[in-house]
Amino acid sequence: MKLLILGSGGREHALAWKLAQSSRSDRLFIAPGNAGTLLSGTNLDVNPSDFGAVKNAVLKNDIDIVIVGPEAPLVEGIHDFFLADPELRKIPVIGPDKSAARLEGSKDFAKSFLVRHNIPTARYRSFDKSDFDQVDEFLASLEPPFVIKADGLAAGKGVVILDTREEARREVESMLGGKFGKAGNKVVIEQFLRGIELSVFIITDGNSYKLLPEAKDYKRVGEGDTGLNTGGMGAVSPVPFAGKAFMEKVRERIIEPTVHGLATEGITYKGFIFFGLINVNGDPYVIEYNARLGDPESEVIIPRIKSDLLDLIEGVACGDLSERSLETDERVAATVMAVSGGYPGDYVKGKVIHGLSKAEGSIVFHAGTTKKEEVTVTSGGRVLAVTSLGKTKDEALKTSYKNLSEIEFDGIYYRKDIGFDL
Ligand code: AMP
Ligand code: GLY
Repeated sequence: MKLLILGSGGREHALAWKLAQSSRSDRLFIAPGNAGTLLSGTNLDVNPSDFGAVKNAVLKNDIDIVIVGPEAPLVEGIHDFFLADPELRKIPVIGPDKSAARLEGSKDFAKSFLVRHNIPTARYRSFDKSDFDQVDEFLASLEPPFVIKADGLAAGKGVVILDTREEARREVESMLGGKFGKAGNKVVIEQFLRGIELSVFIITDGNSYKLLPEAKDYKRVGEGDTGLNTGGMGAVSPVPFAGKAFMEKVRERIIEPTVHGLATEGITYKGFIFFGLINVNGDPYVIEYNARLGDPESEVIIPRIKSDLLDLIEGVACGDLSERSLETDERVAATVMAVSGGYPGDYVKGKVIHGLSKAEGSIVFHAGTTKKEEVTVTSGGRVLAVTSLGKTKDEALKTSYKNLSEIEFDGIYYRKDIGFDL
């Protein structure tokens, strides 16, 4: 089988690394990929949001299945584009169509879906310019701090948490005024929930689903969860506080009503669903949905999948996922992200990466790297995710940190405390 993975981060390297191990995968392409995906397949210089270019690549390379990594092409409708094209119609796309990707692409849609299906989530109300005059009254009905969210995709910057009503009102005004462009045409205001977050994933063919390993992601740049938000500085799987009883609540109250709710609304969801959850005194609430796998969560959950991931993907493509099996590794996986100096603010690209070949006992997933002649150089804020498996979290982390100490590039930074709160 010939596969095409769209995307260029650590998640896509983890997918490529895993799919390349399948006996049924004959050829693997990644568009555009990075210096790491070159070790698992062939990179194609194609932008995933340029659907015409994706089509040419699919036809030229005789691709059988397309696996979409990031959210942008899904929210932009790549799945629908394939279904509408006579030459592409029969080629399965793993990733939801545009209407289903609204779970991630529109916070207003996601919140109303949650409420419609009685799924636990923070109390909220959506506003646009026409009812801005009622914002203050709604804020007065909530306890501070206030969570303000731009409705659409805002490159991970669209959620702001503020302490006072006045600041919150001004933030809503500035979002509605175009701070995030069209993404802020609607704004969601919601109750702040206090608890510990985790990321839960399923793969679904629209009827049945398989629960993948869960993970905890470390989003803040600084140790002790301080400083600016990033795409993610590290992750650990499994999550110790997500025991059997908690995960049973997650299945019953969240996953099943979501899968069933999509089906009853006539939405055929084929792909991964990422539930961003918060554990509030033992009860799970949905903070957000994503229409894809997480990054860096993929770098810990994929190495814990023992079964052939291509078999599950084929199950999604053929609609017989319930007949496929999923086996997971009991061990703990931990990943630590090495980032460019200055990230998540401004940073310099093109720094030569040394010591990659010295890493032993870890899997070094590339996130933001490229080849410049024969040399691997940095090309993004998040550069490498160093993943290790161990009997315990500490054992896994020790291996990752040992290998990170061998890796060097100008400005390298990583958190030394991943997993500190578990
Ligand atoms: P989102 O993009 O919706 O995941 O929001 C980004 C981050 O904001 C989340 O990972 C949470 O840390 C925080 N957040 C969002 N909504 C809430 C909420 N209702 N209560 C507490 N924290 C929240
Ligand atoms: N690590 C969070 C995300 O992928 O959105």
